Amino acid sequence: MTQPNSPDPQLDAFLVEHQLACKDEALTWRPLTGGVSSDIWRVDLAKGSLCVKRALSTLKVSATWEAPVSRNADEWAWIQFAARHCPDNVPIPLAHDAKLGVFAMSFLTPAAHPVWKQQLLEGDVCADTARAVGRLVGHLHAVSADDSELRDRFDTLENFQALRLDPYLIATSKRHPELESRLRYLAQRTASIRTALVHGDVSPKNILVGPKGPVLLDAECAWFGDPAFDLAFCLNHLLLKCLARPDRQEALIASFKALTEAYFDEADWELRAALEARTAELLPALLLARVDGKSPVEYLTDDAQRDHVRAVAARLLLEPVDYLYQVAQTWREEIESRQS
Ligand SMILES: Nc1ncnc2c1ncn2[C@@H]1O[C@H](COP(=O)(O)OP(=O)(O)O)[C@@H](O)[C@H]1O
Ligand SMILES: [Mg+2]
Repeated sequence: MTQPNSPDPQLDAFLVEHQLACKDEALTWRPLTGGVSSDIWRVDLAKGSLCVKRALSTLKVSATWEAPVSRNADEWAWIQFAARHCPDNVPIPLAHDAKLGVFAMSFLTPAAHPVWKQQLLEGDVCADTARAVGRLVGHLHAVSADDSELRDRFDTLENFQALRLDPYLIATSKRHPELESRLRYLAQRTASIRTALVHGDVSPKNILVGPKGPVLLDAECAWFGDPAFDLAFCLNHLLLKCLARPDRQEALIASFKALTEAYFDEADWELRAALEARTAELLPALLLARVDGKSPVEYLTDDAQRDHVRAVAARLLLEPVDYLYQVAQTWREEIESRQS
Protein backbone atom coordinates (compact mmCIF):
# COMPACT_ATOMS: atom_id res chain seq x y z
CA MET A 1 0.00 0.00 0.00
CA THR A 2 3.02 2.29 0.28
CA GLN A 3 2.76 4.90 -2.42
CA PRO A 4 5.77 6.03 -4.41
CA ASN A 5 5.68 9.45 -2.74
CA SER A 6 5.26 8.17 0.80
CA PRO A 7 8.07 9.52 2.99
CA ASP A 8 8.10 6.39 5.16
CA PRO A 9 5.98 3.20 5.10
CA GLN A 10 5.61 3.45 8.90
CA LEU A 11 3.65 6.65 8.41
CA ASP A 12 1.17 4.98 6.05
CA ALA A 13 0.81 2.13 8.58
CA PHE A 14 0.18 4.68 11.36
CA LEU A 15 -2.77 6.14 9.43
CA VAL A 16 -4.22 2.69 8.75
CA GLU A 17 -3.77 1.57 12.35
CA HIS A 18 -5.78 4.58 13.53
CA GLN A 19 -8.42 4.05 10.86
CA LEU A 20 -7.64 7.33 9.20
CA ALA A 21 -6.78 5.53 5.95
CA CYS A 22 -7.89 2.19 4.52
CA LYS A 23 -5.40 -0.56 3.79
CA ASP A 24 -4.39 -0.35 0.11
CA GLU A 25 -5.79 3.15 -0.19
CA ALA A 26 -3.82 5.48 -2.47
CA LEU A 27 -2.34 8.25 -0.30
CA THR A 28 -0.69 11.38 -1.64
CA TRP A 29 1.89 12.95 0.68
CA ARG A 30 2.87 16.57 0.07
CA PRO A 31 5.42 18.30 2.30
CA LEU A 32 4.19 21.60 3.76
CA THR A 33 6.73 24.37 3.93
CA GLY A 34 7.35 27.02 6.55
CA GLY A 35 8.52 24.94 9.47
CA VAL A 36 12.07 24.48 10.75
CA SER A 37 11.71 21.88 13.43
CA SER A 38 9.56 19.16 11.94
CA ASP A 39 8.56 17.28 8.85
CA ILE A 40 4.97 18.12 8.12
CA TRP A 41 2.78 16.81 5.31
CA ARG A 42 -0.63 17.25 3.83
CA VAL A 43 -1.98 13.79 3.08
CA ASP A 44 -4.76 13.44 0.55
CA LEU A 45 -7.05 10.47 1.04
CA ALA A 46 -10.30 9.39 -0.56
CA LYS A 47 -12.26 10.94 2.36
CA GLY A 48 -10.40 14.27 2.30
CA SER A 49 -7.10 15.66 3.54
CA LEU A 50 -5.30 15.59 6.85
CA CYS A 51 -2.02 16.79 8.24
CA VAL A 52 0.79 14.63 9.70
CA LYS A 53 3.64 16.07 11.75
CA ARG A 54 6.88 14.40 12.88
CA ALA A 55 9.52 16.16 14.96
CA LEU A 56 13.13 16.31 13.73
CA SER A 57 16.05 15.85 16.09
CA THR A 58 18.04 18.69 14.47
CA LEU A 59 16.32 21.91 13.46
CA LYS A 60 16.58 23.30 9.92
CA VAL A 61 18.26 26.58 10.88
CA SER A 62 21.81 27.70 10.13
CA ALA A 63 23.12 27.50 13.71
CA THR A 64 23.36 24.04 15.27
CA TRP A 65 20.26 23.49 17.32
CA GLU A 66 19.27 20.09 18.67
CA ALA A 67 16.07 19.27 20.50
CA PRO A 68 14.48 16.09 21.90
CA VAL A 69 11.74 14.58 19.70
CA SER A 70 9.54 14.02 22.78
CA ARG A 71 8.28 17.52 22.02
CA ASN A 72 6.01 15.92 19.42
CA ALA A 73 4.10 14.24 22.28
CA ASP A 74 4.02 17.57 24.14
CA GLU A 75 2.52 19.27 21.10
CA TRP A 76 -0.06 16.51 20.83
CA ALA A 77 -0.97 16.94 24.53
CA TRP A 78 -1.21 20.71 24.08
CA ILE A 79 -3.56 20.40 21.07
CA GLN A 80 -5.79 18.10 23.08
CA PHE A 81 -5.85 20.59 25.96
CA ALA A 82 -6.62 23.52 23.64
CA ALA A 83 -9.25 21.56 21.67
CA ARG A 84 -11.15 20.92 24.94
CA HIS A 85 -11.37 24.65 25.67
CA CYS A 86 -11.27 26.34 22.26
CA PRO A 87 -12.15 23.72 19.63
CA ASP A 88 -12.45 26.31 16.86
CA ASN A 89 -8.95 27.62 17.46
CA VAL A 90 -6.76 24.55 16.93
CA PRO A 91 -6.74 21.79 14.32
CA ILE A 92 -8.76 18.72 15.35
CA PRO A 93 -6.38 16.21 16.99
CA LEU A 94 -6.83 12.85 15.21
CA ALA A 95 -4.17 10.31 16.28
CA HIS A 96 -0.75 10.05 17.88
CA ASP A 97 2.06 7.49 18.01
CA ALA A 98 4.61 8.26 20.73
CA LYS A 99 7.13 5.68 19.51
CA LEU A 100 7.20 7.10 15.99
CA GLY A 101 7.06 10.67 17.36
CA VAL A 102 4.22 11.54 15.01
CA PHE A 103 0.63 12.78 15.16
CA ALA A 104 -2.22 13.49 12.74
CA MET A 105 -4.59 16.47 12.82
CA SER A 106 -7.21 17.99 10.55
CA PHE A 107 -5.91 19.89 7.52
CA LEU A 108 -7.01 23.51 7.27
CA THR A 109 -7.27 24.72 3.69
CA PRO A 110 -4.93 27.64 2.93
CA ALA A 111 -7.65 29.46 0.96
CA ALA A 112 -9.88 29.74 4.05
CA HIS A 113 -6.99 29.96 6.55
CA PRO A 114 -4.31 32.43 5.47
CA VAL A 115 -1.17 32.60 7.62
CA TRP A 116 -1.24 35.75 9.80
CA LYS A 117 2.43 36.46 9.11
CA GLN A 118 1.74 36.59 5.39
CA GLN A 119 -1.12 39.02 5.91
CA LEU A 120 1.02 41.30 8.08
CA LEU A 121 3.93 41.29 5.64
CA GLU A 122 1.54 42.12 2.83
CA GLY A 123 0.34 45.14 4.81
CA ASP A 124 -3.02 43.58 5.62
CA VAL A 125 -3.01 44.57 9.33
CA CYS A 126 -6.30 44.08 11.17
CA ALA A 127 -6.70 45.00 14.85
CA ASP A 128 -9.62 42.57 15.16
CA THR A 129 -7.31 39.67 14.34
CA ALA A 130 -4.78 40.85 16.93
CA ARG A 131 -7.58 41.25 19.48
CA ALA A 132 -8.82 37.71 18.81
CA VAL A 133 -5.28 36.36 19.20
CA GLY A 134 -4.87 38.20 22.52
CA ARG A 135 -8.19 36.87 23.77
CA LEU A 136 -7.35 33.30 22.71
CA VAL A 137 -3.88 33.23 24.27
CA GLY A 138 -5.17 34.90 27.46
CA HIS A 139 -8.07 32.44 27.69
CA LEU A 140 -5.83 29.39 27.25
CA HIS A 141 -3.56 30.72 29.97
CA ALA A 142 -6.49 31.47 32.27
CA VAL A 143 -8.06 28.01 31.99
CA SER A 144 -4.71 26.34 32.64
CA ALA A 145 -3.50 28.60 35.47
CA ASP A 146 -2.63 26.72 38.64
CA ASP A 147 -3.93 23.40 37.22
CA SER A 148 -1.83 20.76 38.95
CA GLU A 149 -2.45 18.04 36.32
CA LEU A 150 -1.21 20.31 33.56
CA ARG A 151 1.68 21.39 35.74
CA ASP A 152 2.77 17.75 36.01
CA ARG A 153 2.15 16.87 32.37
CA PHE A 154 4.04 19.88 31.02
CA ASP A 155 7.05 19.63 33.28
CA THR A 156 9.07 20.36 30.16
CA LEU A 157 11.53 23.01 31.25
CA GLU A 158 14.44 21.11 29.72
CA ASN A 159 12.83 21.33 26.30
CA PHE A 160 11.78 24.95 26.78
CA GLN A 161 15.32 25.75 27.84
CA ALA A 162 16.76 24.02 24.74
CA LEU A 163 14.26 25.55 22.30
CA ARG A 164 13.60 28.96 23.77
CA LEU A 165 15.69 30.24 26.67
CA ASP A 166 19.09 29.05 25.40
CA PRO A 167 18.82 29.90 21.69
CA TYR A 168 17.10 33.22 22.28
CA LEU A 169 18.27 34.72 25.58
CA ILE A 170 21.49 32.88 26.40
CA ALA A 171 22.85 32.84 22.82
CA THR A 172 22.12 36.58 22.58
CA SER A 173 23.83 37.27 25.92
CA LYS A 174 27.07 35.86 24.49
CA ARG A 175 27.09 38.55 21.80
CA HIS A 176 26.34 41.43 24.18
CA PRO A 177 28.67 41.36 27.19
CA GLU A 178 27.16 44.58 28.57
CA LEU A 179 23.70 42.98 28.61
CA GLU A 180 24.77 39.50 29.60
CA SER A 181 23.82 39.60 33.26
CA ARG A 182 20.41 41.11 32.51
CA LEU A 183 19.63 38.51 29.81
CA ARG A 184 20.79 35.68 32.08
CA TYR A 185 18.65 37.04 34.90
CA LEU A 186 15.57 37.15 32.61
CA ALA A 187 16.19 33.58 31.46
CA GLN A 188 16.56 32.38 35.06
CA ARG A 189 13.53 34.25 36.29
CA THR A 190 11.38 32.96 33.44
CA ALA A 191 12.52 29.39 34.13
CA SER A 192 11.58 29.73 37.81
CA ILE A 193 7.90 30.66 37.26
CA ARG A 194 5.27 27.90 37.00
CA THR A 195 1.90 29.57 36.63
CA ALA A 196 0.11 28.57 33.40
CA LEU A 197 0.42 26.47 30.26
CA VAL A 198 2.66 28.40 27.88
CA HIS A 199 2.40 27.63 24.15
CA GLY A 200 5.97 28.75 23.54
CA ASP A 201 5.78 29.78 19.87
CA VAL A 202 2.94 32.28 19.52
CA SER A 203 4.31 33.76 16.34
CA PRO A 204 2.20 35.04 13.41
CA LYS A 205 3.74 32.30 11.28
CA ASN A 206 2.05 29.76 13.54
CA ILE A 207 -1.35 31.44 13.46
CA LEU A 208 -3.87 30.86 10.70
CA VAL A 209 -6.67 33.40 10.32
CA GLY A 210 -9.74 31.19 9.95
CA PRO A 211 -13.45 31.95 9.49
CA LYS A 212 -14.09 31.10 13.16
CA GLY A 213 -11.13 33.06 14.48
CA PRO A 214 -7.40 32.48 14.81
CA VAL A 215 -6.06 28.91 14.73
CA LEU A 216 -2.95 28.32 16.80
CA LEU A 217 -0.42 25.76 15.52
CA ASP A 218 2.98 24.42 16.51
CA ALA A 219 2.97 23.96 20.28
CA GLU A 220 6.10 21.86 20.49
CA CYS A 221 7.65 24.19 23.07
CA ALA A 222 4.63 23.85 25.39
CA TRP A 223 5.67 24.25 29.03
CA PHE A 224 3.90 24.95 32.29
CA GLY A 225 5.65 28.17 33.11
CA ASP A 226 5.54 31.93 32.82
CA PRO A 227 2.62 33.14 30.65
CA ALA A 228 4.43 36.46 30.16
CA PHE A 229 6.65 34.62 27.68
CA ASP A 230 3.82 33.98 25.18
CA LEU A 231 2.53 37.53 25.34
CA ALA A 232 6.01 39.04 24.91
CA PHE A 233 6.85 36.57 22.13
CA CYS A 234 3.80 37.51 20.08
CA LEU A 235 3.98 41.27 20.66
CA ASN A 236 7.62 41.11 19.61
CA HIS A 237 6.56 40.09 16.11
CA LEU A 238 4.17 43.03 15.80
CA LEU A 239 6.99 45.45 16.63
CA LEU A 240 9.43 43.79 14.25
CA LYS A 241 6.89 43.96 11.41
CA CYS A 242 6.97 47.78 11.73
CA LEU A 243 10.45 47.64 10.19
CA ALA A 244 9.37 45.37 7.36
CA ARG A 245 6.25 47.51 6.70
CA PRO A 246 7.00 51.08 7.84
CA ASP A 247 3.91 52.20 5.92
CA ARG A 248 1.75 50.11 8.28
CA GLN A 249 3.41 51.18 11.52
CA GLU A 250 0.32 52.89 12.96
CA ALA A 251 -1.86 49.88 12.29
CA LEU A 252 0.75 47.52 13.74
CA ILE A 253 0.99 49.56 16.95
CA ALA A 254 -2.83 49.61 17.13
CA SER A 255 -2.72 45.81 16.81
CA PHE A 256 -0.09 45.66 19.56
CA LYS A 257 -2.46 47.56 21.85
CA ALA A 258 -5.56 45.56 20.84
CA LEU A 259 -3.76 42.28 21.48
CA THR A 260 -2.48 43.49 24.86
CA GLU A 261 -5.84 44.71 26.11
CA ALA A 262 -7.72 41.60 24.96
CA TYR A 263 -5.11 39.42 26.65
CA PHE A 264 -5.41 41.24 29.99
CA ASP A 265 -9.21 41.03 29.82
CA GLU A 266 -8.74 37.27 30.16
CA ALA A 267 -5.79 37.24 32.56
CA ASP A 268 -7.46 36.72 35.93
CA TRP A 269 -4.91 34.55 37.72
CA GLU A 270 -2.54 37.23 38.96
CA LEU A 271 -2.38 41.00 39.22
CA ARG A 272 -2.00 42.72 35.87
CA ALA A 273 0.81 44.91 37.19
CA ALA A 274 3.12 41.98 37.93
CA LEU A 275 2.36 40.09 34.73
CA GLU A 276 2.62 43.19 32.56
CA ALA A 277 5.95 44.21 34.12
CA ARG A 278 7.44 40.75 33.45
CA THR A 279 6.19 40.93 29.85
CA ALA A 280 7.58 44.45 29.36
CA GLU A 281 10.93 43.25 30.69
CA LEU A 282 11.07 40.17 28.49
CA LEU A 283 10.02 41.92 25.31
CA PRO A 284 13.26 43.85 24.66
CA ALA A 285 15.25 40.66 25.31
CA LEU A 286 13.18 38.86 22.67
CA LEU A 287 13.55 41.79 20.26
CA LEU A 288 17.31 41.54 20.51
CA ALA A 289 17.15 37.77 20.23
CA ARG A 290 15.48 38.01 16.82
CA VAL A 291 18.51 39.90 15.56
CA ASP A 292 21.43 38.40 17.46
CA GLY A 293 20.12 35.05 18.72
CA LYS A 294 20.13 31.67 16.99
CA SER A 295 16.92 32.30 15.03
CA PRO A 296 17.13 35.76 13.45
CA VAL A 297 14.05 36.95 11.51
CA GLU A 298 14.63 36.72 7.79
CA TYR A 299 12.93 39.98 6.81
CA LEU A 300 15.28 42.40 8.58
CA THR A 301 17.76 42.54 5.76
CA ASP A 302 19.76 45.70 6.31
CA ASP A 303 22.06 46.83 9.07
CA ALA A 304 20.05 49.98 9.82
CA GLN A 305 17.03 47.85 10.71
CA ARG A 306 19.06 45.56 12.92
CA ASP A 307 20.75 48.53 14.61
CA HIS A 308 17.35 50.00 15.35
CA VAL A 309 16.36 46.81 17.16
CA ARG A 310 19.66 46.70 19.06
CA ALA A 311 19.30 50.33 20.17
CA VAL A 312 15.76 49.95 21.52
CA ALA A 313 16.52 46.62 23.15
CA ALA A 314 19.67 47.85 24.89
CA ARG A 315 17.89 50.94 26.18
CA LEU A 316 15.00 48.92 27.62
CA LEU A 317 17.18 46.15 28.99
CA LEU A 318 19.35 48.62 30.87
CA GLU A 319 16.42 50.79 31.98
CA PRO A 320 13.42 48.46 32.18
CA VAL A 321 9.86 49.79 32.04
CA ASP A 322 6.73 48.40 33.72
CA TYR A 323 4.13 48.91 31.00
CA LEU A 324 3.82 47.54 27.51
CA TYR A 325 2.72 50.88 26.08
CA GLN A 326 6.10 52.24 27.20
CA VAL A 327 7.88 49.57 25.16
CA ALA A 328 5.81 50.52 22.09
CA GLN A 329 6.50 54.19 22.80
CA THR A 330 10.28 53.68 22.99
CA TRP A 331 10.13 51.65 19.79
CA ARG A 332 8.29 54.45 17.98
CA GLU A 333 10.53 57.19 19.34
CA GLU A 334 13.56 55.35 18.03
CA ILE A 335 11.94 55.00 14.59
CA GLU A 336 11.11 58.72 14.57
CA SER A 337 14.58 59.78 15.73
CA ARG A 338 16.15 57.74 12.95
CA GLN A 339 13.88 59.30 10.35
CA SER A 340 14.66 62.89 11.35
N1 LIG B 1 -3.26 21.46 10.49
C1 LIG B 1 -2.73 22.20 9.51
N2 LIG B 1 -3.47 22.53 8.42
C2 LIG B 1 -2.94 23.29 7.43
N3 LIG B 1 -1.69 23.76 7.41
C3 LIG B 1 -0.90 23.47 8.45
C4 LIG B 1 -1.38 22.68 9.55
N4 LIG B 1 -0.36 22.54 10.43
C5 LIG B 1 0.68 23.23 9.91
N5 LIG B 1 0.37 23.77 8.73
C6 LIG B 1 1.26 24.59 7.87
O1 LIG B 1 2.59 24.08 7.96
C7 LIG B 1 3.48 25.05 8.49
C8 LIG B 1 4.49 24.40 9.43
O2 LIG B 1 3.80 23.79 10.50
P1 LIG B 1 4.27 23.95 12.00
O3 LIG B 1 3.38 23.12 12.88
O4 LIG B 1 4.35 25.39 12.31
O5 LIG B 1 5.71 23.26 11.92
P2 LIG B 1 7.17 23.69 12.44
O6 LIG B 1 7.22 23.19 13.87
O7 LIG B 1 8.10 22.95 11.57
O8 LIG B 1 7.26 25.20 12.33
C9 LIG B 1 2.57 26.06 9.19
O9 LIG B 1 3.14 27.34 9.22
C10 LIG B 1 1.31 26.02 8.33
O10 LIG B 1 1.46 26.87 7.22
MG1 LIG C 1 5.92 26.69 12.84
